[in-house]
Amino acid sequence: MKILAIETSCDETGAAVIQSSANGTFVKLLSNSLATSMEKHAITGGIIPEVAARNQSLYIIPVVHEALKLAKLNPSNPDIDAIAVTVGPGLIGSLLVGVETAKTLAYAWDKPLIPVNHLFGHIYANFITTNNSSLPTLPAIVLVVSGGHTDIVFMKDHTHIAWLGGTRDDAAGEAFDKVGRLLHISYPAGPLIEEYAKNGEYVYHFPRPLMYDKAFDFSFSGLKTAVLREVSQHNEITHKLVADISRGTQDAICDVLSYKTIQAAKEKSVSSIILSGGVAANQELRDIFLEKIRTSNENFSLFVPEKFLCTDNAAMIGAAAFFQQNSIPWNTVSANPELYFD
Ligand code: KG4
Ligand code: ZN
Repeated sequence: MKILAIETSCDETGAAVIQSSANGTFVKLLSNSLATSMEKHAITGGIIPEVAARNQSLYIIPVVHEALKLAKLNPSNPDIDAIAVTVGPGLIGSLLVGVETAKTLAYAWDKPLIPVNHLFGHIYANFITTNNSSLPTLPAIVLVVSGGHTDIVFMKDHTHIAWLGGTRDDAAGEAFDKVGRLLHISYPAGPLIEEYAKNGEYVYHFPRPLMYDKAFDFSFSGLKTAVLREVSQHNEITHKLVADISRGTQDAICDVLSYKTIQAAKEKSVSSIILSGGVAANQELRDIFLEKIRTSNENFSLFVPEKFLCTDNAAMIGAAAFFQQNSIPWNTVSANPELYFD
C-alpha cells in the first residue's frame, strides 16, 4: 500500500510517500519532503501563527509535487492507494492549508482520505524503518515529547492507545525554548541547548516538580522561573553561564521525563518503552533513558525513531495512517486544533 501524507500542523510543511512492508509490520519511505518557516520565527523568538500559515500556503504545492517526483510517481495523477493528512492538534491556519489541500487532491484523484492525529504521527515515527532498525514490540509505554505536548500513553496494541498523564502547563520542548529565550538563544532552542550543555558544568540543580508524584503528570513552567531568577543575578550572559544553565536545564528535563516514563512502564508491566516527538532527538535524553534502564534491573527495551523523524515530518503521518486505516469521505474531514488523545 502506498500513501501520500501531508503534515502542516505548525511551521513545517511536509509531504511524504510511504509504502507498507509486505507483512504489514512497518513502513518504508519512498520520499520525505520538508519546507520550514523556522528561520522567520527565529527572528521573532517564537512562532507567529499568521506567519506560519502564510508560509504553509506558499510551500504546500511545491512540497507535495517534490514528494511525488522523488517517489517516482506521476505528480498529476499518482498511483497511490490513499492520502493522509494531519487534522490536529496544531495551529488552525496552518492545519487548514494541509487539510484543504488533501481534500482537494482526494476529490480530484478519487482517493480515500485518512485523517491523522499529529500525536499519533509522532508515535508511529517508530514504525518507519530506514536502516533495518528494530521495530517496537507491543504493549509499550510511549513518551510523546515535543514543543506542544508532553504525554505518557499506554499502547496496548494498534487500536488501544490510552493516555496516562501529561503536562499541566508547559511542554518539555516549550521549556527548552523559553529557557533559550532567557539566554538569548534563537528559536527553536532545544537543539542549541543540547550543544551548549556539552560544555556546561554541573552547577545548577533546577526543580523537578511532580517527579515523585504518583500521577503521570508533568510541570515545566517552574523551570523557566528558576532560570529567570538565576539569570537576573548576573550582569552579563557569558558563554559559561549559557553552558551551565543549558546543562542544568537539560539535566532537569531529562531526569523527570525518564524517571516518570520508566515508572509507568513498571506500573503497566510492559517491556517496551518508546520515545517520540521533537525532544526525543536529544541524545542526552536517549542516554539517560538507557542508563536508568540499565540500573533498573528490569528488562526494558528502548525504541527511538531516527533523529530526523523525531521532529515534525509527513512520513510519520503516513505511517500512522497505514496502521489506523480509518479513511472517511473527503467532505467530512476537518481541521481540529484541539484534538488530543481520546
Ligand atoms: O515535534 P516537534 O518538531 O514539533 C511539535 O510538534 O511541537 O518538536 C519541536 C520541539 C521544539 O520545542 C524544539 O526545541 C524541541 O522539539 N527539540 C529539541 C531538540 N530538537 C528539537 N529539544 C531538545 N533537544 C533537541 N535535540
Ligand atoms: Zn510535532
